[in-house]
Amino acid sequence: MARNVLVTGATGNIGSQLAGRLAGQSDLSVRAFVRDADKAAALKDAGVELSVGTFEDGGSISSAVDGIDTLVLITAPNPNAAEQAGAVLSAAKQAGVRKVVRISALNADPNGPTDNTRQHGRTDAAIQESGLDYVILRPHFFMQNLFMAAPTIGGEGNIYMGMGEGKLGLIDVRDIVDATEAAVVSEDFNNQVLTPTGPDSIDFNQIAASVGRGVGKDVNYVAVPPEAVEASIIEMGMGEWFGEVFKHYSEAYSNNWGDFTTGDVEKLTGHPARSIDQFVDEVFAPALSQG
Ligand SMILES: NC(=O)c1ccc[n+]([C@@H]2O[C@H](COP(=O)([O-])OP(=O)(O)OC[C@H]3O[C@@H](n4cnc5c(N)ncnc54)[C@H](OP(=O)(O)O)[C@@H]3O)[C@@H](O)[C@H]2O)c1
Repeated sequence: MARNVLVTGATGNIGSQLAGRLAGQSDLSVRAFVRDADKAAALKDAGVELSVGTFEDGGSISSAVDGIDTLVLITAPNPNAAEQAGAVLSAAKQAGVRKVVRISALNADPNGPTDNTRQHGRTDAAIQESGLDYVILRPHFFMQNLFMAAPTIGGEGNIYMGMGEGKLGLIDVRDIVDATEAAVVSEDFNNQVLTPTGPDSIDFNQIAASVGRGVGKDVNYVAVPPEAVEASIIEMGMGEWFGEVFKHYSEAYSNNWGDFTTGDVEKLTGHPARSIDQFVDEVFAPALSQG
């Protein structure tokens, strides 16, 4: 009998790739928890069952977890993420879900430097105390975050970030999708906390050089103060919570909080993590050239 898997956050960066991939496995039956069925039309076409609802609507969560064996719990970064994850977790326990695969965040810790880090720390602890089997994945900074800098890379050829000279082991989201798929399919990683990273810990001057090589123009990193990052996030309309979180991440990364790599992508997937050059050549430059 097919094993039933629910993916929340299924229209996001990770979930949109993951849900379709899992649906391609003959022994899995995949349901996606989505706010907007139209946005998830491609998932439906890929054989994913859609369950429409929100983390604020307990009835919709109960329907979504009904009959599920394995829950892939993805929430968006927001001020209520820990409460949202808690609501899904308690409904899952009540419904008899066996296993939770959680997309957490780097160095998740209730006392960490950003509110996102702290919320993930609280959720990870709740999952570990839940009595359910779990795999907690704490991925590094996404290479795909560079798309936020696409307008200035395409324009004046600059990447404005607040990371100082800090190094970080950033990761391609494609590797997070591969790692999450492995965590769902295999039982070998149950009750482990893993930290998927890229293969190299590099600074933004090196990242800018890779982007410049790939897009065929001079691209420079312009280090701005973390306070300026906060102001520009707020100016972009992303709100004060995001502004403060980006400022605190900038401060932490400037102090080499993310200056490490692990072998966890290879451990989970059997293949090495993709490099920044691979990401630029295969994902970023092609997207940029298509406008
Ligand atoms: N970016 C990074 O560098 C980084 C690094 C490590 C960890 N992380 C963690 O990765 C997670 C985000 O993963 P992602 O980038 O794949 O997600 P994402 O692209 O931010 O997508 C979030 C998903 O959650 C859904 N969602 C938002 N609010 C909801 C609500 N109230 N009820 C139901 N669904 C809701 C969204 O639906 P809609 O499409 O309808 O909006 C979307 O499907 C976060 O927990 C973040 O902390 C990020």
